[in-house]
Amino acid sequence: MALLSSILLALMFLTAEVTPQKKHSGSQKCVARNFGHDSVVCECNSTYCDSVGSITLPPLGQYSSYLTSMAGSRLEAAQSQVQVNSTGAGLKLTLARNQKYQKIRGFGGAMTDAAAINILSLSAGAQDQLLRQYFSPEGIGYSVVRVPMASCDFSTRLYTYADTPGDYNLDNFTLAPEDMNMKIPLLQRAQALSPHPLSLLASAWSAPAWMKTNGALTGKGSLKGQPGGKEHKTWAQYYIRFLEEYAKYNLTFWALTTGNEPSAGQMTNYSFQALGFTPEEQRDWVALDLGPALHASSHPHTHVLILDDNRLLLPHWAKVVLSDIHAGKYIHGVAVHWYLDGLVPAELSLGVTHHLYPDYYLFGTEACSGFTPLDRGVTLGSWRRAEQYTHDIIEDLNHYVVGWTDWNLALDQTGGPNWVKNFVDSPVIVDAKRDVFYKQPTFYSMAHFSKFLWEGSQRVGVSSSQKTELEYSAFIRPDGSAVLIILNRSSSVIQFEVWDPAVGYIPCTAPAHSFLTLAWNTH
Ligand SMILES: *[C@@H]1O[C@H](CO)[C@@H](O)[C@H](O)[C@H]1NC(C)=O
Ligand SMILES: *[C@@H]1O[C@H](CO)[C@@H](O)[C@H](O)[C@H]1NC(C)=O
Ligand SMILES: *[C@@H]1O[C@H](CO)[C@@H](O)[C@H](O)[C@H]1NC(C)=O
Ligand SMILES: *[C@@H]1O[C@H](CO)[C@@H](O)[C@H](O)[C@H]1NC(C)=O
Ligand SMILES: *[C@@H]1O[C@H](CO)[C@@H](O)[C@H](O)[C@H]1NC(C)=O
Ligand SMILES: *[C@@H]1O[C@H](CO)[C@@H](O)[C@H](O)[C@H]1NC(C)=O
Repeated sequence: MALLSSILLALMFLTAEVTPQKKHSGSQKCVARNFGHDSVVCECNSTYCDSVGSITLPPLGQYSSYLTSMAGSRLEAAQSQVQVNSTGAGLKLTLARNQKYQKIRGFGGAMTDAAAINILSLSAGAQDQLLRQYFSPEGIGYSVVRVPMASCDFSTRLYTYADTPGDYNLDNFTLAPEDMNMKIPLLQRAQALSPHPLSLLASAWSAPAWMKTNGALTGKGSLKGQPGGKEHKTWAQYYIRFLEEYAKYNLTFWALTTGNEPSAGQMTNYSFQALGFTPEEQRDWVALDLGPALHASSHPHTHVLILDDNRLLLPHWAKVVLSDIHAGKYIHGVAVHWYLDGLVPAELSLGVTHHLYPDYYLFGTEACSGFTPLDRGVTLGSWRRAEQYTHDIIEDLNHYVVGWTDWNLALDQTGGPNWVKNFVDSPVIVDAKRDVFYKQPTFYSMAHFSKFLWEGSQRVGVSSSQKTELEYSAFIRPDGSAVLIILNRSSSVIQFEVWDPAVGYIPCTAPAHSFLTLAWNTH
């Protein structure tokens, strides 16, 4: 007991002594605002926004840490010495770099009509600040942007790009004003701010009504006829036309999905845009129509991601589609949404799918909070929602997922606009009247990953010396540096240290309800 307390005391002294606040170049503090929930938002305007700046790691023998906590820290940076000897803390997390897993593709959000409307509702200066927060080197390093093809629920009207009945040649295919005046210019500005080419990802919600069994964009309905038939062929060509039209504006897509939430279009009276596919229909549409059309197009290298729906449909959906070599040869990955994640353990859905089909990657394409009837819309400053994000991202990364895409990049204070009032939350909430935007705690959940895990970072093993409530995931980046992300949701009091056999011991304290990213050079 006495020995333990003196070790703890020594450790606290040591930690206090070697953890001076170090200023990073270009770093700016959060202007915190409390809206009466369990944590705060950071307010930004046309001339000011908090930022941790662009990050350079200290030399070998030191490490950087970044802390976000319910108590109000937001990516708070510190540096100190890696220790030669163990501090003797009870819990030790050991990096196992010889255990290598998946490589990261990236993190991002969606440029919906609603996101574009909200961003453009700000003054030019505030728009620029907002885009910089996500995409510039001083921002949080988003590299993925999901782009809905035509309208979805986060639109102000229902439309597709080919609403002329019977237009099987797509002669009247035309991008919408939402693309021309809002999404395309904003994507070009985001691309200009980003130090790397963005990974653009396209998803369609509904086919034109005249191609569908129910003659409407909403409700229960699927493509008329059979895979290989004229509606299925035209629907594949619609994707190709979309890629070609965006390419005219120098926006080239990394990937497309086979369609947003195909299970929604199988539900009676589904309230917004959807296109139903069973896994069998999706398999045959890819094998007979989409795959060959893409292969023959001017964009043959565009990745194809199946499912784009909740992971509880795995592994069944993947088994049906990927077991077929005619479909499988055109497919690169399986896209998952986070809704209902609580119902199915990650190992039974993501883990099993990865082990059955290790050549196909898993990718998170949609997530948001505030979507349930009892917990609806925007909650400014919610820490609980930020913990849900961080928990889900760590769990996904630890089950082979290579990227995680948030939903709307920005929403208004009611969580819209959304034509069916399916209001939800977003990491950035815009108040156009005051020309400000609020960065929610979930913005920092994303940042703890997106700013540090560059494309090509590889997950490695971490072993724990004893059972712990901490959640964590470790990576080696392409330059050899190491990154460890830790989430503390627990109420048990524990000290711990991180051991990287390549460099030494890192003494740690993760305060109550906090996210901690540690990063260090290894040569
Ligand atoms: C922006 O916010 C900063 C920090 O709160 C403040 O000093 C500045 O006056 C604000 N600028 C505008 C244009 O409101
Ligand atoms: C590390 O431990 C060894 C053996 O216990 C000791 O000799 C050495 O002085 C320690 N080094 C430091 C930097 O504390
Ligand atoms: C479709 O395009 C054709 C030829 O480009 C044009 O003549 C026709 O008016 C268009 N129809 C509609 C409904 O836009
Ligand atoms: C097109 O975008 C790429 C980055 O994706 C950029 O390097 C290039 O300069 C752009 N070309 C034009 C004509 O804007
Ligand atoms: C679907 O909508 C129709 C028309 O609004 C209504 O008559 C029917 O009861 C609804 N069905 C279900 C299952 O909600
Ligand atoms: C985690 O948070 C709890 C409070 O929620 C705190 O008591 C504990 O010390 C923290 N754990 C670590 C390892 O810092």
